[in-house]
Amino acid sequence: MANIVVTGASRGLGLEFVKQLAKFNKNPKIFALCRNPQGAEKLQNLASTCANITILKSDMTSFDGYKEVVSNIQKEIDSGGVNILINNAGMMLKDTLTSVKYKSLIDTFELNTLAPLLFTQALLPLLKKADESTLPLKVGKSAVLNISAHLGSIEENATGGYMSYRLSKTALNMVTKSAAMELKTSNIFVMALHPGWVKTDMGGEQAPLTAEASVNGMLTVLSKADETYRGCLFTNKGRKIPW
Ligand SMILES: NC(=O)c1ccc[n+]([C@@H]2O[C@H](COP(=O)([O-])OP(=O)(O)OC[C@H]3O[C@@H](n4cnc5c(N)ncnc54)[C@H](OP(=O)(O)O)[C@@H]3O)[C@@H](O)[C@H]2O)c1
Repeated sequence: MANIVVTGASRGLGLEFVKQLAKFNKNPKIFALCRNPQGAEKLQNLASTCANITILKSDMTSFDGYKEVVSNIQKEIDSGGVNILINNAGMMLKDTLTSVKYKSLIDTFELNTLAPLLFTQALLPLLKKADESTLPLKVGKSAVLNISAHLGSIEENATGGYMSYRLSKTALNMVTKSAAMELKTSNIFVMALHPGWVKTDMGGEQAPLTAEASVNGMLTVLSKADETYRGCLFTNKGRKIPW
């Protein structure tokens, strides 16, 4: 059985990833990580109707707790590995050059950049153990998807604003590229995805896309991803975003 790990699964895009992946290709086992399982009512309701969803408590900025989270995943999958890790948990503050604060920069960087990097590192032994026949990908025996953002593109930044968020996602793009290069020899595929502007708590009500359409698009991009996608950032519609 294939195993998939999603961070920040309590609501928004993380919850939608869990929903769509739970029904994906022979019902893989989904590990839905969230920092407050008791408060994640929608996720609890979903898990009560899908036996293949396991909810695990994980605050992604509690770096010292990663060992226990990985060990809890390992216990559930015995000798198997993790086929897909989706580093989705994120935060966005609407700060600018003049309003940004030291603490907001650090908090955003910890969650949006350091957590995907260090959690991928912690999960590496299980990503390396994945059996490629359980969830065939075009490239790689397992995959890491970093949910980044168009706002992290330096080349396509035409307005400024969202200072802490942009910095964190630009750095996440570098994490993606470097991890992709380093993990190529282990046959682990890494790429970053921009979900589009999506109606979630982060995206707001004016956003044009539903979480359902966004996640469907991102999973379609993953299904088409070949060697030319390795280490790159693509939109949910399959456009390659320049750095
Ligand atoms: N929505 C958009 O338009 C858009 C556009 C571009 C990129 N993105 C990216 O897509 C990803 C998901 O965004 P979203 O729109 O779904 O955001 P969202 O609705 O605000 O949800 C954020 C998720 O991250 C979790 N989270 C926050 N801090 C956490 C922590 N310390 N540990 C673990 N989980 C934590 C939240 O959990 P709690 O419920 O516990 O707070 C929640 O599940 C993010 O990386 C975001 O940057 C979104």
